Order: sequence, then structure tokens, then C-alpha cells
Amino acid sequence: MERLFLLFLIFDVLLLFNNSAAQRPGFVSLDCGGKGNFTDELGLQWTPDDQFLFGETSNITVANETRQQYLTLRHFPADSRKYCYKLDVTTRTRYLIRATFLYGNFDNNNVYPKFDISLGATPWSTIVISDTTTIEVRELIFLASSPTIDVCLSNATTGQPFISTLELRQFNGSVYYTPYEDRFYLSVSARINFGANSDAPIRYPDDPFDRIWESDSLKKANYLVDVAAGTVKVSTKMPIDVTSDLIPPEKVMQTAVVGTNGSLTYRLNLDGFPGFGWAFSYFAEIEDLDPDESRKFRLVLPGQPDMSKAVVNIQENAHGKYRVYQPGYPNISLPFVLSFRFGKTSDSSRGPLLNAMEINKYLEQNDGSMDGAVIASVIAPFSLAEWAQEGGDPCLPVPWSWVQCNSDPRPSITVIHLSSKNLTGNIPSDLSKLSNLVELWLDGNSLTGPIPDFSGCTNLKIIHLENNQLRGELPSTLGNLPNLRELYVQNNMLSGTVPSILLDKNLVFNYSGNINLHEGARKTKHLYIGVGSSVGAVILLVATVLSCLFMHKGNKSHYNKDQLRQPLPIQRPVSTLRDAPAEAAHCFTLSDIEVATNNLEKKIGSGGFGVVYYGRMKDGKEIAVKVLNSHSYQGNREFSNEVILLSRIHHRNLVQFLGYCQEEGKSILVYEYMQNGTLKEHLYGALTRERSINWIKRLEIAEDAAKGIEYLHTGCVPAVIHRDLKSSNILLDKHMRAKVSDFGLSKLAVEGTSHVSSVVRGTVGYLDPEYYISQQLTDKSDVYSFGVILLELISGQEAISNESFGANCRNIVQWAKLHIESGDIQGIIDPSLHNGYDIQSMWKIAEKALMCVMPHGDMRPSISEVLKDIQDAILIEREATAIRDGNSDDMSRLSAHSSLNIGSIDLGAENYLSLDESIAQPTAR
Ligand SMILES: *[C@@H]1O[C@H](CO)[C@@H](O)[C@H](O)[C@H]1NC(C)=O
Ligand SMILES: *[C@@H]1O[C@H](CO)[C@@H](O)[C@H](O)[C@H]1NC(C)=O
Ligand SMILES: *[C@@H]1O[C@H](CO)[C@@H](O)[C@H](O)[C@H]1NC(C)=O
Repeated sequence: MERLFLLFLIFDVLLLFNNSAAQRPGFVSLDCGGKGNFTDELGLQWTPDDQFLFGETSNITVANETRQQYLTLRHFPADSRKYCYKLDVTTRTRYLIRATFLYGNFDNNNVYPKFDISLGATPWSTIVISDTTTIEVRELIFLASSPTIDVCLSNATTGQPFISTLELRQFNGSVYYTPYEDRFYLSVSARINFGANSDAPIRYPDDPFDRIWESDSLKKANYLVDVAAGTVKVSTKMPIDVTSDLIPPEKVMQTAVVGTNGSLTYRLNLDGFPGFGWAFSYFAEIEDLDPDESRKFRLVLPGQPDMSKAVVNIQENAHGKYRVYQPGYPNISLPFVLSFRFGKTSDSSRGPLLNAMEINKYLEQNDGSMDGAVIASVIAPFSLAEWAQEGGDPCLPVPWSWVQCNSDPRPSITVIHLSSKNLTGNIPSDLSKLSNLVELWLDGNSLTGPIPDFSGCTNLKIIHLENNQLRGELPSTLGNLPNLRELYVQNNMLSGTVPSILLDKNLVFNYSGNINLHEGARKTKHLYIGVGSSVGAVILLVATVLSCLFMHKGNKSHYNKDQLRQPLPIQRPVSTLRDAPAEAAHCFTLSDIEVATNNLEKKIGSGGFGVVYYGRMKDGKEIAVKVLNSHSYQGNREFSNEVILLSRIHHRNLVQFLGYCQEEGKSILVYEYMQNGTLKEHLYGALTRERSINWIKRLEIAEDAAKGIEYLHTGCVPAVIHRDLKSSNILLDKHMRAKVSDFGLSKLAVEGTSHVSSVVRGTVGYLDPEYYISQQLTDKSDVYSFGVILLELISGQEAISNESFGANCRNIVQWAKLHIESGDIQGIIDPSLHNGYDIQSMWKIAEKALMCVMPHGDMRPSISEVLKDIQDAILIEREATAIRDGNSDDMSRLSAHSSLNIGSIDLGAENYLSLDESIAQPTAR
């Protein structure tokens, strides 16, 4: 045995030596900003990107980072251009390309950069830097279809784009073949070594392709959390049969996790998802099982029961021990937050075992602009000029600095701007193949030779060829360009006569400064029409003018925009309306109310259907009195609903209904008074400037509210759907405990059916889009609104805002989704929370919130599931608080308790005022 190990050791050393002696073919390791060649401790040979024309280099220092490739980087101006690296590849060969980014505060700015990276015309990823010391890594697997690839940085929205390394790794044979590879790249999302011996990844030379197998014990946000109890690491020193190329390296397969309690469970974020992906797991039996023992298990994916059918029996599937079995899905739909479980079958004696896993997302390739090939031949003669080396697609993802493109799905070049670029030689005739060209600027160069025939560019409007050394005649074909408006050819060496068609055209036309160019005798128009070949062009011209006139006239008959607005829906009368409020609701007299409120003296709020006043009963009990607008039919209907409903519903997290009054045409509802007003005011009202509520308090408020809603959904028969959940309907008592208020819009769900159809009502920003479209109301509509409230709690932003969410986005859901799905949770966290939160609990809520606002109700969790996650988050947060504060358990309980003290500040009754004008028709999205 010992000799065997020695043999392995020697083998290992030899391998290492060999690899450091010669670079593996198909490997390129670019040290961006580096100064010279070097070989790193893995045996990878790095070369600097010092031939690169663009950008500047910086030296950085990051604590604990000594690898030479991470001591430098290259950065680019924060402009609208793209900067592309061109790499040579072998066509019809598969590669892994890896780009890494270590910020290191190179610009002494601490504005964390955000920019895009693309592979050719295909948007690859958005790089969002969230601290100075974390290395962002992006990997893509692709089949090379041309001899070079371009990796481009662009779209600097914040800070300067930069890059630390660019690595190209060639695969053998059919490794990572997929049936979709001609149209899709694989974007690497997770490559995990389970049961790893350390936090360090396994890569080259253990992995001959230098794939990076991340350790499962690595600590990062939402990476392999919710691990089942009884999960243990196992490992072996025995060799594993990894002869097939696709298989993870032996070192990865020699470790695994085992669910000794029968289950392995994990949850992790999948960057780039939701979407379709390629997902494989790798199993090798590395434990000694007795002959009468078995290990059989199934994969369980939430919401995908079909995936659970196949049973894994590693030894059987792999035909023995220490051999690899690799089941997987070449095309599976996966969410951003993946929870999965391997559960043992009832007849299995051992729990499940897992060695490794790989998940890649399909990234659809962009075909690129229409003019890629043409423009390549145009610039070929100028290949040494800087402008000709911008690389990548001329239009995508952003155009070259001297090009403009239209916004077609496959864009074309519309403007070429090459004024004063020292161009020599002839005007490239291929320019005339750019059929959508509108403007051509070649002035101020040293171009010689004739002006080519631009007949192919029928959209050409503006041509600048002045201040060159162009020779020959001015082509009369220019006169046939139907859209030509400006033509500049002055100060050249043109000769002959100026074609009369150009002189007759309605044209800004300058041909001065051409000594040998003369104006011929002008022909009159009717004579000209007689020239057969030109008749078509003239008719075309006339037709164009006519159609323009017509269109112009059409534009004048503008419609009245207000006519587009839909009238408010007409309410249908509901029969229960006419029934007098029955049940056991307490009936106040009007004089009781007048005395208690001192004749409605103090207004504390107003809703869409009435005004709320402060009151105090003779016994000292404080009350909130809602006087419904008596002229509002709608108000009356809600009055009845509320009375019937509220008298039945009691829960500590629902605002208590005390009674009603209906006298002298007035309809009044009486509630308990909530001293601390609405959640809305505490999140972004005037109050927040003085004191914002901390994260744990926000979680407790969410928990309270969720309990209230859970009671409505599950504790009432028939179930009650709130229909108008929002942060101004969550009220806070003097202890800052939350209660859900305002059942004015609630309706009793019809027993035995899952939905109630009614006219769409609710508040813009909180309204379930599915309900809005289908008018089918379910409890999941409340879950949607609650998801919006969770996002408000995280961000301290209003649900709808014209300013907060950047251009083209008014809605908290869109905004938060964009950030969370790209992993940038920091971008939405309320700055007033400072660092007083644990990122795990934050993620848990952020993910749940995204689930709640899924477009379809059946994809959303129930409120009970949401409640459970909130409670989990509270546990995580309390634990983290205790660790942060270095406190014992007792102390953490104390600190959680002390956060309740906020409730004792007297906020004054004014704070209850919430201008609740928002009940309205939703605006279409
Ligand atoms: C970075 O460091 C190298 C060597 O240590 C030095 O030659 C170079 O000037 C430095 N570059 C910058 C931009 O400071
Ligand atoms: C995967 O499957 C889906 C649904 O069947 C299909 O639309 C898609 O084109 C397939 N391939 C990829 C690469 O997404
Ligand atoms: C053009 O060429 C001249 C001489 O070769 C050079 O001095 C000048 O800098 C160049 N201009 C540009 C914009 O490249």
C-alpha cells in the first residue's frame, strides 16, 4: 500500500514539472496591466497584455492576495465605447473563457464600477463590483466558429470598466458538446466539489482543462446554505476511474458528502438564472458498503415532480466502486435560487452521496449586425490605425466610436464618421454595400482616386468628401440617390462637368475648390424627363415627395390623448348590501362618537373612501373613527362589507374592529387606535429622517403582518382576500407591533372555489399583474402585494417612484428584480440600515420577495411559506446580532427586546395621517 502512495507522489511531481516546462496547447493566460511573462505556482504561463492599444494600467494591493496576475489591472475610460480583446482560437473547437475582475480600489474612488462584458456581439454578463477585495469571475464555454474571438467591456454605468485577467482554456474532443452549441453558449453558474478538504478550489494541474472546482465549504452569500442535519464529509485515497474527459478530476471525485439522516439538501444562487441550463451531478461510490447494504436515492426539485422519478444507485449505475456515474439534464429550466434535495429511497440502507455538480446556463448567441463582414473588408486596408482596431461587432453591444447603427433586431450601420483620420488610398468601394447608410463623413483625409458608385446606398442623405485629393468625375449616379440632401466635395481634384441632375436637385451642394470641375449647360426639367433611363428615378422621386406630404398631413390629425384614458369601471350593486349589518358588531350612537372625537376635531388620516379621526372614550380607550363619505355608493358597500367581516375576524395581528355607527346618513366604523401610525411613514415618510427602523424590527413587522394575512387566508372560513395590502395599510401600535388594517376592499372568497371574480381594485404598485389582466382574484394576489411590501422593507423605497429607480423604471419590482437577479443585493438595501444586518437574512427575504412577485400566482409561495422564511430570517439575524455584538444568548434576547423600545416614543397623532389617495385604476405597465 505504502509503495502505491509513493508511486502516486512521484507521478504527481512529474506531472507538475512537465506542466511548468511547457504551456498546455490552447491555453492563453493574459495578465491585464502586467509587465512581463511569468509562470505561476500552478504552472500556468502568463503573458502581459502590453500590446493592447486602449486603456491604462494600474498597480493594486489587496490584503492576502499575492498572485502576480492580481497585482495589476487594465482600466478604461468611463465612456460609451467598448474596448475589446481579440484572441486567436481554432474553429470548431470548444473552449472555456474566463474573465476575472479584482477592483482593489485602483482609482481611489470607492465608487464601485459597474459595466458589461460581451463575447463578440453577445452580451455575456454585467460586472457589478460590490467590494474592493472580492474577485468577480465569469466563465463561458463556447464552440469557436471563427478564427478569432472578441471579449469586450462596455457600457460603463458607474465607475471605470477594468479587467484583471483573461484566460482561454481549450477542451478536447467532444467535451461539453450540446445539441444547441451553434446557437447557445454555456455560461458557468456553479461547479462544485462536495466534501472538499479545504476552502481552496481544485483546478490546474489537477484539472487538465483548468476548470475551477469550487469548494463546498467556501463561505459566500447564499452559497450552499440550508444544509440538512446529518450531512458528513467522506473521502478516499483510492484512485477513481476518470478516463472520460468530461468527468471532474480525480481529486474532486475522491471527496463527497453523505446525508446520514437520509437527505442532502442545499440552496444556492445561480448567477444568470432563471432560464434554461445544463445541469449534471457526478457520483462515485467511495464508501465501503457491506454486501447487504444499499445506497439508493432520488433528486427532489421543488415544483418539478418529474425530476424525482429516477432512482440513483451509484454502484449499479457506474458498474462498480470508484467509478463515476454522471446523470444530468442537458436542458432544464432552473430558477435563480435553486433548492434541491437528494432523498434516500425507503428500501435504501444508506443515505445519498454526492461528489460534484456542474450547472451552466444557456446564453443565446447574438448573430451580430448586418454589416459585420462588409465593414471588416472596408477597414482591412487601415488595420494599423487605432480606430480600425476597436474590435468586436461594429454595432453590438455598443457601436464603434466612429459608427452609428439603427436599432433593428439585427442592426445596420447608418452613420460612418471618419473625418480627419489620415485616411489614404481610394475610398473603399465596399462602403456602397452598406445599404442602410444615411451619413458618410470622409472629409479632411488624404483620400485619392475616384468617387465610387453609391447607388446601393439608397438611404444616403449626407455625404462629406471635402478636403481630400479625390480625382476623376463627379458620378451622376449620386443624383439618383432618392434621399440625398447634402453633398460636399469641395477642395478636391475632381474634373469634368458637374452633372446637371445634381444641380437640379433640391440639395445643399458644395463643389468649389476643384480647379478642373466645371458647371455644364443646365438642362431644363421637361427636357430631362425625356431621357428614358431616368424616368423611373424621377417618378420614384415624385412618389417619395408625395408620400412624405401625405404622412406629414396625417401627423397633423393628432388624437386627444385624454381619450385613451379608460373610464372608471361601474360598480355592480351587491345584494348583501341592502341587508342590515347583522352579527355581533357593537353599535355606537352618533353622540357617543361626537363626544369621543370632540366633534371630529382631530383628523389623523384619510383613505379613498373616508376620513379617519382620533377619539377617546369615556373610559380612556383611544379609538380611530373612520367616517365614510356618505355620498359615495362605493363607500356604503364597503361599509357593509367591513361591518360583516370585521365583526367576525379577530386576530392579534389584525387591527381590532370595535363597532360601527349608521345614523343621520353617516356611516362610521370604529377601530382600535394605533399609536405609531403606518409602516409607510416609518420607511420613507418625514419620520425616517429622525429615526429609521432597524432590520430586525422590520423583520418582526413583516412577521406580524404575515401572521395577520395568514389568518385571513387560512383561519377564516371562507377565506378572506385582503385585496389592498400596502405599507400604508400596515399599522403599528405603541409597542411597534404590526397589525393589518383596512378590510374595506376585502371580499369573502366563495367557498369551494379558488378564486373570486370581481372588478379589479387595488393600489398601483401593489397590484398583482395577473389579477389585473385576468380579474381572477386569489390569495396569491395578496402574496404579490406582500412581496412588494418586503421589497419596501429591504430598500426603504416607495413601491412606485418617478425618480428613485433610474430611467425607464418606475416600479420597485422591476428595479429590485434586476438587482437581485444579477446578485447585486447591496444595490437595493436601504442605506439607512448602514451595516446593521446579516447578509444571509437579507438574501432570504430578498429571494422570498422575488418569489412573491413572480408573474403567475401558481409560481408564488403561500403566505404561510413566506411567514416561515421570515421567521428563519429572524433567527439568522438574531444569531448574527449576538455574534456581531459578542453577546451571549441572553444578551441577544435583550437586544432584540430593546429594539421594541422605539415604540415608546410618542409620535403624536399627526403621524397617523396617511394621505391615501392611491386607490385608483392601475396604470398599464
Ligand atoms: C507598477 O509597478 C511596476 C513595478 O513594480 C512599476 O514599474 C510601474 O511603474 C507601476 N505602475 C504604476 C502605474 O504605478
Ligand atoms: C430547452 O428547452 C426549451 C423548452 O423546451 C426550449 O425552448 C429551448 O430552446 C431549449 N434549448 C435551450 C438551449 O434553451
Ligand atoms: C496623421 O499623420 C501625420 C503624419 O503622418 C501625423 O503627424 C498625425 O499625427 C496623424 N494624425 C492622426 C489623427 O493620426
